[in-house]
Amino acid sequence: MKSKILRTVLIVVPLACVLFFLYMTFFHSAYDHPGRYVYLDHCASCHGEQGEGILQLVPPLADADLARAQFDSLPCWILRGMSRPMTVNGKTYDQPMYPTAMTDIEMTNLMNYLASGMVHTDRQYKSDEVVKMMQQCQP
Ligand code: HEC
Repeated sequence: MKSKILRTVLIVVPLACVLFFLYMTFFHSAYDHPGRYVYLDHCASCHGEQGEGILQLVPPLADADLARAQFDSLPCWILRGMSRPMTVNGKTYDQPMYPTAMTDIEMTNLMNYLASGMVHTDRQYKSDEVVKMMQQCQP
């Protein structure tokens, strides 16, 4: 009886460990970019979890031509907010985006996440570059 329980434990525990490892490697870590958490906290409610936007109200960020062309302006747009008509991927939008306060670390992680995982530019940012962009934006 005891050995049966022991045998079951010896099979179940390593199996659970292997499954957990596979899950963390192939599913969890794929979404584990620190910038993704900043995105989910501050942006996803409007721009959508995958950056798809909302109908004609909020423009998309996923492969957005405007964000890609002016990617270095993002820290400023985020800190100051935006309120002007704009065309993104051929559609026009004109609703305000309110300012969002952010630390330089959060902003750097967000920029790198958006660059590689959503807008798809080939840039990567160091925090001192992002700090400069944020400073240039102060009124
Ligand atoms: C309250 C809803 C809301 C939130 C939250 C929000 N946005 Fe926006 N965003 C908008 C709207 C609306 C526009 C269009 C603004 C305009 O027409 O002036 C916009 C425009 C943009 C644009 C330029 C257009 C494009 O799609 O390329 C970028 C880039 C952007 N937002 C990034 C962000 C990021 C990054 C965050 C998180 C830090 C964020 N936004 C949070 C609503 C929001």
